[in-house]
Amino acid sequence: MERTLRPERLGYLSFLVRDIKISTEFFEKLGHLEVSEERDGKVFLRGGMQHHWIVLQESDNPGLERVAMEMGSRKELDAMEERLKSQGIKYESGDGFEADRVSQYLRFNDPAGNPLELYSDMVSYPMPPQPRYVSLEDIQHLVLFVDDIFSCHDFYTQVLGLRTSDWNEHNTVFMNFRNGWHHGLGIGAGRTEKQGISHLCFLPTDMDDVMRARAAVMRAGLPITSDILRHGASGSFGFYFAGPDVPVEFSVGARRFAEDEEHTPRRLIRTPTVSDVFQVGLEELELSFQDNPDAWSDIESVAGLRKANVPPKTYQAAEDSQKVGS
Ligand SMILES: [Fe+2]
Repeated sequence: MERTLRPERLGYLSFLVRDIKISTEFFEKLGHLEVSEERDGKVFLRGGMQHHWIVLQESDNPGLERVAMEMGSRKELDAMEERLKSQGIKYESGDGFEADRVSQYLRFNDPAGNPLELYSDMVSYPMPPQPRYVSLEDIQHLVLFVDDIFSCHDFYTQVLGLRTSDWNEHNTVFMNFRNGWHHGLGIGAGRTEKQGISHLCFLPTDMDDVMRARAAVMRAGLPITSDILRHGASGSFGFYFAGPDVPVEFSVGARRFAEDEEHTPRRLIRTPTVSDVFQVGLEELELSFQDNPDAWSDIESVAGLRKANVPPKTYQAAEDSQKVGS
């Protein structure tokens, strides 16, 4: 079948950070990445054979510097440059081999102002990183905030060639790259005051690695912002926590589309259960003791539990933290 022009995968994310030592330690210890290179004030970290998935650079004005997507070849990058020209999109191009370890890049903004890059031929390693506590397959997806979800959706699908996976009403749309994961990129609407990144997601090797990543976060004492859940849109299973620069998700089990797969995007209803299907039926489950209000106290005193640990709080926490994206 015809190979349509679109990026292969989410390639890397570049962040301006307030304290590069803290951020590097975070991505090493809780992102389970390996520092691949330090040059010109930048720290590059990898989780696979590619030179980097994350780039850090210290700045007094921290934030998302760049979202970079990998093209399959220089030929496809050149074809994408022609497409940008024909669409009248302003961009800059260059050789990024020395500064960013990619042979050629195109840089431009999406309609919301999020800084993007398409590149080809990143420097790679002949061997994976040293064995780590959590094994990772890839940097799987990110979700960006945008002011106008419809114009941005048109841009990502019609200009960059991403395919629409599913909508979450008019709040979030998930799109896939050629690698087929349900979403390599999501865009979430409704937070015009906060352009930028909602969260990034690493793809561990299996469920054990998700649980090891979670155990590391808990041992470090950082809050888990959304604990073990299964997303309704993608079917992925994972958890979220907060880093110094960006919220991070670890999840596995997302739907993966084949290159020639026919798929009609769904428009899913926006409820907490779309973000976590394990909560289906939870509202109907009566978790109080109507006839004996002191029963929980009795259980707590017997079991030595605190009331804060009972399930109803989980429902609200997931609703609050999952307003955009998955
Ligand atoms: Fe996600």
